[in-house]
Amino acid sequence: MKTRSVYVCQECGYRSLKWLGKCPSCGAWGALVEEIERGDDTKRTEHRALEPVPLTSIAQTTVERLRSGIEEFDRVMGGGIVPGSVTVIGGDPGVGKSTLMLQLCARFAQRNPLYITGEESLEQIHYRAQRLGIEQEGILVLTEQAVEDIAATIASQAPGIVIIDSIQTMYGRQLESLSGSIGQVRYCAAQLVQVAKQTGIPIFLVGHVTKEGMLAGPKVLEHMVDVVIQFEGEGNYAYRILRAIKNRYGSTNEIGVFEMSKCGLAEVRNPSTLFLSDRATPAPGTAVTAVIEGSRALLVEIQALVMQSGYGMPQRVTTGFDYKRLQMLIAVLERRLGLDFIRCDVFVNIAGGFVLRDPGADIAVCAALVSALHNRTIAERVVAIGEVGLTGELRQVSSMDTRLNEAAKLGFSSAVVPPAVPIQSVGIELCTAYNLSEALTKLVM
Ligand SMILES: Nc1ncnc2c1ncn2[C@@H]1O[C@H](COP(=O)(O)OP(=O)(O)OP(=O)(O)O)[C@@H](O)[C@H]1O
Ligand SMILES: [Mg+2]
Repeated sequence: MKTRSVYVCQECGYRSLKWLGKCPSCGAWGALVEEIERGDDTKRTEHRALEPVPLTSIAQTTVERLRSGIEEFDRVMGGGIVPGSVTVIGGDPGVGKSTLMLQLCARFAQRNPLYITGEESLEQIHYRAQRLGIEQEGILVLTEQAVEDIAATIASQAPGIVIIDSIQTMYGRQLESLSGSIGQVRYCAAQLVQVAKQTGIPIFLVGHVTKEGMLAGPKVLEHMVDVVIQFEGEGNYAYRILRAIKNRYGSTNEIGVFEMSKCGLAEVRNPSTLFLSDRATPAPGTAVTAVIEGSRALLVEIQALVMQSGYGMPQRVTTGFDYKRLQMLIAVLERRLGLDFIRCDVFVNIAGGFVLRDPGADIAVCAALVSALHNRTIAERVVAIGEVGLTGELRQVSSMDTRLNEAAKLGFSSAVVPPAVPIQSVGIELCTAYNLSEALTKLVM
């Protein structure tokens, strides 16, 4: 079969034998991506009618997932790794992708995992393994970048699981463009997806994230693979969050929490303690809420600082919280409660570097703001859970029982919540508030 490489415009489909910066057809810049074109012999001229099957007649196969025993990882994967699946793990430089993958190999040591690296030497891998205390026999390591050879090796060695670190360093011999280009990344991923589907061997592709926070060789890769997970970490903090972005075999709501140390990544089974700062003495401007991440609740501390503005334009600065949401909550506090933040700088920070996305934190954010404004502390051992509407009304949020259970588990004695909380007896006193003003009276002493 004859093949040749052509450059195809991703905007209009224009084909060219040479790379061009600008598409002559539609004028798009940098849109030409190298692809492999098959010769004429694959173009069929005769047609045949195909036979669809009834959905109910398909024999049910039970998928046996491979569980690594790393709970935080297995949960994000939807309960374990599905045979023949291809997973992309993305993340910023140095976040710990290679570390996690090597630790995963250690867990599957009896299945002869194959770790293929295109960016580090065998000595570097060995040094990392030593540092992580990985001594298990059975892990195979290879430094290679040519994807055709890698595919052949996987087929002949039949390892239990394969790691490709990273997809951006791999290249296909048939393409002329540099490794890491969209054409190469797409071609290499396609080859590896094919191997995974044919052999039933699960393959992990480590993917670097570009400045925009997208996987290089961007969305293209996400469509081709079964699972996309993202490994995130906040520069100065040791904790790392593993998040599913796409999962053909499970929910994308789950997160896994890890802590990075010199001995590698350790699971954090009770992340709430991580995000609650040392609360021995409650300080003005701090409030605690319970948010939902996947199937779990986490307790998070919100810190606010309100101070006289030195300049004409008051500042609103947030870390880990949506800036627009803060402006909305301040507007509600001003309009509905007659509070005055006009000449104040407002800072909101989520302790531990956590990023809050749950509207259930609204009451607690308002409480932290008012507490900071009046320099009064919030009642001890109280959590605030609920969404705040524009009229200052409080709204119910999802999974209230999970949130309350977590708060009770960590020793909180009461919770300020919107009306009609369905659950009663979780060992925590419920203080119902109908609007923001009532909630704040209960919270801020
Ligand atoms: N001796 C050490 N003590 C503590 N932490 C370490 C040590 N060595 C490495 N680390 C941690 O491991 C991280 C590097 O991990 P790893 O190489 O797995 O990241 P990565 O995501 O694969 O990076 P890259 O993008 O370069 O491939 C460092 O950023 C650091 O946090
Ligand atoms: Mg790495």
